[in-house]
Amino acid sequence: MANDRRLFLTRSGQALLALGAFGALPKDLQARIRLSNRALVQDEGFSVLQGFTTETTTQLTVDVPRDLKLRYLLLDRSDGRILDPYPVARVGRSFSSWAVDRISFSGLRLGRVYEFQIIDEKNQVLDRRELHALDRQKSRARVSILSCALDFAPNKEKRWQSVFRAQPDMVFFMGDNVYGDIGVLDANPESLWRRYVETRRRVPFYRARRLIPVLAVWDDHDYGKNNSNYQYAEKNASLDVFETFFAQDRGLSRSAGVSFTTELFGHQMVFLDNRFERDRPVAGRRTFLGGEQSDWLYKIMQSARRPLMLIQGCQVFGGYSNKRQSFEGRDYPEDFEVFRKAAQGLRQPMLLASGDVHITEIMKIEKSMFGFETRELTASSMHSFPKLEIEKNPRRTHLESQHNHLVVDMSVTASGPQYVVTCLGPESAIRFTDRFGI
Ligand SMILES: [Fe+2]
Repeated sequence: MANDRRLFLTRSGQALLALGAFGALPKDLQARIRLSNRALVQDEGFSVLQGFTTETTTQLTVDVPRDLKLRYLLLDRSDGRILDPYPVARVGRSFSSWAVDRISFSGLRLGRVYEFQIIDEKNQVLDRRELHALDRQKSRARVSILSCALDFAPNKEKRWQSVFRAQPDMVFFMGDNVYGDIGVLDANPESLWRRYVETRRRVPFYRARRLIPVLAVWDDHDYGKNNSNYQYAEKNASLDVFETFFAQDRGLSRSAGVSFTTELFGHQMVFLDNRFERDRPVAGRRTFLGGEQSDWLYKIMQSARRPLMLIQGCQVFGGYSNKRQSFEGRDYPEDFEVFRKAAQGLRQPMLLASGDVHITEIMKIEKSMFGFETRELTASSMHSFPKLEIEKNPRRTHLESQHNHLVVDMSVTASGPQYVVTCLGPESAIRFTDRFGI
């Protein structure tokens, strides 16, 4: 009975929160709903994300009922040593009963198995997750790449089991990680905050027993509005929300919006922001990335000492599609030529990765484009709307139109980087495999 009541309070509380009426409720009901949030995380676990991680450090975010006092630690399972975090920052919003705790640790060691513990005031361990440091110098590594995780989709568990079973070293979230403008009356920074909380409660990844570090960029739905660009009025508030929920604020070299670069697994990984400065005119031409980010990218490309991987929300080679969201599409002809020239000057190979289009495809990019043959790997969607019409794409070598993600096994050899790309559907079903070097 108590459980039923608690469940009812939880559900009705969430429904009210979704409607944005929380502040208008009587104070005692507000308090009960807050208590039910507490019950929710005690019964079902917290939403936990492990973000940027190195050989000795890690950053995490945990969604918490705003008034719940918590502390965190890392327990080394082999010798019982305990690591305490740096002072935890709790970031909240006055309209939400959920806040985000931002936690970071140093002093980790490779090869150790850690237990991340969430502990309440009575010293009760409310949640525990397995956590590892990350060897970024690995010459053979596995990364899962994915995009478009609509929380309302059914049967999400089977899709995320495919990610868990693949045991990647990292996961790259390539946008539409949260659909901020779906399920709300008016897309704005408040509703975006709520949609992050809701999505992280519904998507099984955030309750993984064994945490996998995530690096993320956004696309339009988590930027704020469908197909939006540099003119979106709330873009700085959206950036603030992104930076609160993801855990990648230290140790990365950054440019506009959510973009950043880091060395990982023998690659220079460049995560690009396709929204924050999209369409901004520079020197009379309409740009895909804006001036600052383009200059930053081309500098990285010029001085690259290892293979590059560009990771972003939208496709580079989407000129075949009527959707008009890609770099190659009709909107950026002059800017695309600037990008092409920069790529032609590269002394390193470059692989492309993208999301957005609700199909997964591998494209073979002809040598005449950049002076070397390469691929674009598009992984979409994890669980979102199916694409009804598949457009013809002459560069496409592999296609999957059902829910899936890509597992990229990468190794850097004397003769260049080698990749094995496996497309996994629900329950680890292999949809296709491709092997290539660039
Ligand atoms: Fe999407």
